[in-house]
Amino acid sequence: MSKLYAISGVTGMTGNELVRQILVEGSTDHILGFDNFYASSIETVSDHIDDERFEFFEYDLNDAAQMEDFESRVRAQAGDYDEVIYINCAAVVHTEHFYHVYETFETNVEGMNNFLQQAIRVGAGKYINCSTSEVYSMNSWNENGGVKESDYLTMAVAEHSQRTSYATGKLLTEFFMKDAVDEGRIKGCSIRFANVYSKDERYPKHIIPFIINSFRDHGKVVLLENSRRNRRTFLNNYDSCSAVLALAATDSALDGTVYNVATDEEISIIDLAKLCAKKMGIDDPVIEFSGYRASDPERRLLSTEKIRTRTAWKPAVTLEKGLDECISNYLKQA
Ligand SMILES: NC(=O)c1ccc[n+]([C@@H]2O[C@H](COP(=O)([O-])OP(=O)(O)OC[C@H]3O[C@@H](n4cnc5c(N)ncnc54)[C@H](O)[C@@H]3O)[C@@H](O)[C@H]2O)c1
Repeated sequence: MSKLYAISGVTGMTGNELVRQILVEGSTDHILGFDNFYASSIETVSDHIDDERFEFFEYDLNDAAQMEDFESRVRAQAGDYDEVIYINCAAVVHTEHFYHVYETFETNVEGMNNFLQQAIRVGAGKYINCSTSEVYSMNSWNENGGVKESDYLTMAVAEHSQRTSYATGKLLTEFFMKDAVDEGRIKGCSIRFANVYSKDERYPKHIIPFIINSFRDHGKVVLLENSRRNRRTFLNNYDSCSAVLALAATDSALDGTVYNVATDEEISIIDLAKLCAKKMGIDDPVIEFSGYRASDPERRLLSTEKIRTRTAWKPAVTLEKGLDECISNYLKQA
C-alpha cells in the first residue's frame, strides 16, 4: 500500500525525522513537504533532498497563494496512491516565542485549521495534529503514573503569564481535530509531545543543546532559578516520529482524540546538567542560576498508557543514548 504524505514544517525536528522514517529503502511512499525556515534549515533533510520521492517547497503555512499551490500539487498526485495522510508539524514552538500571542495564534491555530480544511478538501484519509504537553500547564504531573489525556486541566492564565497562549492555542486545535472526526470528514488525532530533542537540533536555547554548548564554550552553565526544582522527561525525535507513524497506521486509534507521547525517564534539570558534564569529561561542573520563568510547572510527567494500549509504540531511545548522540554531534560542530 503506497501513501502520499503532505507534511508542514518538514525541516523541523519532527518533520525531518519523518522524512527519514517514511523514505526507508524500498518504500514506495511519496512526500510533499514545506517549511518557511522559521526555525530550521534545508540542511536537516539534506540526506533526502535529491530523493525523487521527496518534494520540498519553501512555503509559509500562512501564505494563502502558496497553500493553494501546495493543495493543487497534492490533488494532482493523490490518485496515484492508496492513501493521503496530512501531518501538521509547522508551528511556532520555542519557549521564547510562547509569549507572542498573535504569532502563535496565526500559525498554530489558524494555520493548523486551514491545513486541516485543505486535507478535508483534497479528500485525505487522515490528519495528524501535533499538539503539546504544555496544555497540562500547572497540573502536568501526578503521583499515579503521570497525567492522562482525560484529566481536567488547570491552566495558568494571562494573570500569570502570556506563556500559556501557546498552550491554549494548541488546546483549541485539539477541538478542531475532534470536530472534524466527529463530523465524519476525516480520521485523525492530536498528539501531546513532551520536550522533544534531537541530535541535529538547530535551536541553541533548548535545554539540552544549551547545556552542552555552554559547557563546551564557557566551561560552565547558567540555568534559570526554576531549574533548582524542575524535573522533565525528554523525547528523542526518533520516538516522536515513530509515534506519529504508529498512530497514522492504526485506523482504530484515529478517533479524533488526544494521545500523550513521552518517556517516563524523569530527570531534574540539575542532574541533566551533571550527566552531560560527566559525559563530556568534566568532573566538577560549574552550575549557576539566574532568571526566573513564570508559569513553568515543576514537573511534566505524562501517562502513555493510551498510545501503548492502542498501538505497538514505545520509546526506543534512552536518555543516555540520546545524550551521547547529541554530545558527539555538538562537539563535532565546535
Ligand atoms: N519540540 C518540542 O519539545 C515539542 C513539544 C511538544 C509539542 N511539539 C509540537 O510538535 C510539532 C513539531 O515541532 P518540532 O519539535 O518539530 O519543532 P520545530 O520548531 O523543530 O519544527 C517546527 C517547524 O515549523 C516551521 N514553521 C514555523 N512556522 C511556519 C510557517 N508559518 N510555515 C511553514 N513552516 C513553519 C519551522 O521552521 C520548523 O521547521 C509542533 O506542532 C510543536 O508544537 C513540540
